[in-house]
Amino acid sequence: MFSKKITNFIKKKNKSKIVTLTAYSQNIASLIDKHCDLVLVGDSLGSVLYNFTSTKKVTLDMMIQHSKSVRMGVKKSLLVVDMPFNTYRNSKEALKNAKKIMSKTKCDAVKLEGGKKVIQIIKTLVKNDVPVMGHLGLLPQTAKNFKFKGKNKIERTRILNEAKLLETAGVFSIVLECVENTLAKSITQKIKIPTIGIGASSHCDGQVLVTDDLIGLNPINVRFVKKYLNLRKIIEGAIINYKKDVENLKFPKKKHYY
Ligand code: KIV
Repeated sequence: MFSKKITNFIKKKNKSKIVTLTAYSQNIASLIDKHCDLVLVGDSLGSVLYNFTSTKKVTLDMMIQHSKSVRMGVKKSLLVVDMPFNTYRNSKEALKNAKKIMSKTKCDAVKLEGGKKVIQIIKTLVKNDVPVMGHLGLLPQTAKNFKFKGKNKIERTRILNEAKLLETAGVFSIVLECVENTLAKSITQKIKIPTIGIGASSHCDGQVLVTDDLIGLNPINVRFVKKYLNLRKIIEGAIINYKKDVENLKFPKKKHYY
């Protein structure tokens, strides 16, 4: 049912932790590819690159354009592309748009947000050879608040049941965003496909982060993310040195242009 690449990805469950990062361009993609199992072109690009206040404004064309660039940098990882808001309101629309994403970007799979409401849509995509990654917990495309999910019993039962439903519908993996620790752990134990946490338990089968956050490229500070580098500071240092060279007429003279 799954391609060899996706089957190998699923087999990582209970063997090794799954490393996932986002990329919106070839340059970052080619740097992270060899260290990742999965590269995600997330619709988080709306807030990270375009200052949108919500991912609702991200369009299919934006996702396709960025994914084409990322594709050039991804050689070994699974490449997954987010389906943006309002592009999968029913099975027909979802299939048309998912097929467009797959054919234009040559990605390995698409990701979409939701539980019970998107089960039929997921079944249609999977039946038509579109591999799907699920996304539960905090769902940024429709969220009313950005709070932890799974704090009360009703919500916990719902999210756990939705994870089982998504697995039965045929997703190959599920992102758990801002899901309370013990719930993320229990979902991870109860399903056979890998869970990938963001702001969720380290007991998930893997973790995903927005690359721009962890390397300090995103000027907005995301509270739960450990910054491994302050790239903005490093880039600024280089620009200051360049500026000094320009002002001091210290341009290197090269014999050949290339
Ligand atoms: O859009 C995104 O980058 C995502 C991840 C944060 C999971 O969906």
